[in-house]
Amino acid sequence: MTVPETVALDDETGALVIIDQTKLPGEMKLLRLTKQEDIWRAIYTLQVRGAPAIGVAAAIGLYLAAKEIKCDDFGEFYARFKSAKDYLASARPTAVNLFWALDRMDGAALENAHKPIAEIKTLLRAEAAAIIEEDISVCKSIGEHGLGLIKDGQGILTYCNAGRFAAVKYGTALAPIYLGHERGYNFKIYTCETRPLLQGARLTAFELCEKGIDTTLICDNMVSQIMKSGRVQAVFTGCDRVAANGDACNKIGTSGVAVLAKHYGIPFYVCAPVSTIDKATPNGDAITIEERPGEEVTDMWYKNRMAPEGVKIYNSAFDVTCHELITAIVTERGVLYPPYSDSIRIL
Ligand code: MRU
Repeated sequence: MTVPETVALDDETGALVIIDQTKLPGEMKLLRLTKQEDIWRAIYTLQVRGAPAIGVAAAIGLYLAAKEIKCDDFGEFYARFKSAKDYLASARPTAVNLFWALDRMDGAALENAHKPIAEIKTLLRAEAAAIIEEDISVCKSIGEHGLGLIKDGQGILTYCNAGRFAAVKYGTALAPIYLGHERGYNFKIYTCETRPLLQGARLTAFELCEKGIDTTLICDNMVSQIMKSGRVQAVFTGCDRVAANGDACNKIGTSGVAVLAKHYGIPFYVCAPVSTIDKATPNGDAITIEERPGEEVTDMWYKNRMAPEGVKIYNSAFDVTCHELITAIVTERGVLYPPYSDSIRIL
């Protein structure tokens, strides 16, 4: 059976095709989305999620919006294109890949403003296709660079899901693990559940087990114990935005893992495509952190509500790992080491 890609464009039906990640691990269900509202909702509700995958989905979504604009005048076309872009950009605030991909599509429209609208639409399709292809090759390169940092037999801890469900095909933080597995390495992977949306339990555990990789699921509050007992030799996580000073924003709970890794002397690696590095954001304090509905903490996954009515809920979806806690940032162009303000500037 061919494995479906996490996010794809189906030209025949004019649809964005995604694996509905809210149904995993129970069901591998494909969704075909054609309406902008459905694409927006898919991103907001995490049917498609993970920084690179969100960017790719938005690029395809914007192409599909452009395709439906019927007019011959660029001014009118662009006004409608821009409002579709702004709408998709409002789905989630933290992953810079969403804005990066939409800006790339915007650039492709503006650069070709002098051409006929039909041609602009073809060029927008080509730009979306390029974003898809680049995502695949970028993740492969991250895998090569990341694999150079670990050894056969090591215990590796990962957080949230930065694997195939977070990108078109391979993912970022899991790419070195896949590559090593293909080359005969036997890693022992520890995946944290990742409360409250359980990306680690539902997605990372699923995709690693699907590949036959030795995987152990732990609750988020077991990290210290697992590290203390000597079972973890490296931490690999993904990232939603790297600031110019190397501060890295990722799924809530990541920064705590980094603090523990520092305490136990375990290297903490962040894997990020260059498109996730946001030089316009000086440091982690400047990153907008998404806050999500309290029901995700109190009700989701439970048969009955697991908190008293009336209690206040804080559901921050991301946190920032201070650059001082990060051993290296693995990109497709190579491994960046501190001081990150220099290595990122040179990159
Ligand atoms: O809320 P999510 O599931 O979209 O959060 C995803 C993460 O935090 C990932 O670790 C990050 O996007 C990197 S994916 C390669």
